[in-house]
Amino acid sequence: MHHRIRSAGLAERLMSADEAAALIQPGMTVAMSGFTGAGYPKAVPGSLAKLMAREHDAGKEFRIKVLTGASTAPELDGVLAEARGMELRLPFQSDPALRSQINAGEIDYIDMHLSHVAQHTWFGFFGHIDLAVVEVAGILEDGRLIPSSSVGNNMTWLRDADKVILEVNEWQPDGLEGMHDVYYGTALPPNRKPIMLEHPEDRIGEPYLHVDPAKVVAVVETNAPDRNSPFNPPDEASTRIAGHILDFLEHEVKRGRMPEQLLPLQSGVGNVANAVLAGLASGGFRGLTAYTEVIQDGMLDLLRSGVLRMASATSFSLSAPGLEEFNANVDFYHDKILLRPQEISNHPEVIRRLGCIAMNGMIEADIYGNVNSTHIAGSKMMNGIGGSGDFARNSFLSIFMSPSTAKGGRISGIVPMVSHVDHTEHDTMVLVTEQGLADMRGLSPKQRARLVIEKCAHPDFRPLLEDYFDRACRDSLGKHTPHLLGEALSWHQRFVETGSMRP
Ligand code: COA
Repeated sequence: MHHRIRSAGLAERLMSADEAAALIQPGMTVAMSGFTGAGYPKAVPGSLAKLMAREHDAGKEFRIKVLTGASTAPELDGVLAEARGMELRLPFQSDPALRSQINAGEIDYIDMHLSHVAQHTWFGFFGHIDLAVVEVAGILEDGRLIPSSSVGNNMTWLRDADKVILEVNEWQPDGLEGMHDVYYGTALPPNRKPIMLEHPEDRIGEPYLHVDPAKVVAVVETNAPDRNSPFNPPDEASTRIAGHILDFLEHEVKRGRMPEQLLPLQSGVGNVANAVLAGLASGGFRGLTAYTEVIQDGMLDLLRSGVLRMASATSFSLSAPGLEEFNANVDFYHDKILLRPQEISNHPEVIRRLGCIAMNGMIEADIYGNVNSTHIAGSKMMNGIGGSGDFARNSFLSIFMSPSTAKGGRISGIVPMVSHVDHTEHDTMVLVTEQGLADMRGLSPKQRARLVIEKCAHPDFRPLLEDYFDRACRDSLGKHTPHLLGEALSWHQRFVETGSMRP
């Protein structure tokens, strides 16, 4: 009997990745595990991509619809994109090959709140799920599954797909067993019950995933690491952003708006978010908690130093050194990290109840506080909204952060009007750049605009924004949210035409 496959019945379905991939047919809707470079299937997508390439060479079409938890890795999104094997992809992604096909209009991409994916599947909005390919860390004697390094939408994929391929990855540490909390209690409206989660550390489910063994058509053994891009070391801008946020949080504690242990932290993806976590390490806080989506390297550091007491998430998002640290010390982290399905880690009801502090990166914000997290110049997809909307709308405090300029100073992160709206002015409370922090709570649109321009804009762009706003206040049709409609997106147009927003 195999060490990780303890169910005799399921062990009988062991086969190679190539044999398993051959069970996937053109046109199928295939749901796969994987969330921010963790817990994605490592072998079957590669075999499938080879199969697709052979079919394409023979002049035949072979494309599938791919649903995941969030972004995956080159072994999944990368190979399938390069094989031109995806006709539709959802939700969040960050693979360069996939991104370029999305932006070339060759793949339909559905960018949506991560908390919505499972329930949109339950409601049937994506049609029928033909097959699920799910990585697990092991299979118990009774057929229950030890989840891998992400939970994501796996509960839904395993339950709703007609057929299931399991990849059992021996590389995942044994110590993962018991770190998950899979909640099976969500019913569809009108029969929903409250989710009884009152603290980030509360367990409301069970440590294992279930699958109907009759649906499992293949079990594939793998031994391969999760793969994630390294984080850039915090640069000066990120360090200053982190400093502004720390000062602000300390101020909020002094004002009695938050306890000394703050409120559960949510930290988004990307370099800036990771740098803010690094900043928290030296901020003097102790015993904090996180109710977030992903555990980044910075969170492991905070757990080790005791700044963070525990963290709840749906997945890891670790660089290679972060993975090495986690795998070597999994026993230390075992009782300090909980991984949940993404509809629970990102659940609006729970986030509102816990009163999270949401800290997410952005592409740009406008003077009124509307935020674009996803699109360059209104039309070109970067990654996706991920969980930023789940947290921004529902948290106690919603912070968006970015350097004040991008691409060597040619682009301003603060613009007259955002070229795409992911988070409206009603969902954003604090904007931070390396220049400063604008606390927009309790302010009217015009008050917000003055503050955002003064605190967050880069000095090179600040006079241009002041000039725009002054003229808008004078000439705009309405004086509530003043705008010059013919000019509001002219900065983006200039960027498209010249590669720079500078006049
Ligand atoms: N115009 C053009 N490019 C811009 C830009 C702008 N206004 N702002 C940022 N960029 C580019 C940067 O130049 C950089 O490009 P590069 O990869 O070629 O160097 C890239 O976007 C990333 O920017 P960076 O400043 O390094 O920030 P980041 O790694 O923190 O990422 C987001 C910022 C917005 C892309 C990232 O936070 C994101 O995808 N957010 C949406 C999802 C989300 O918030 N999830 C969190 C919920 S858990």
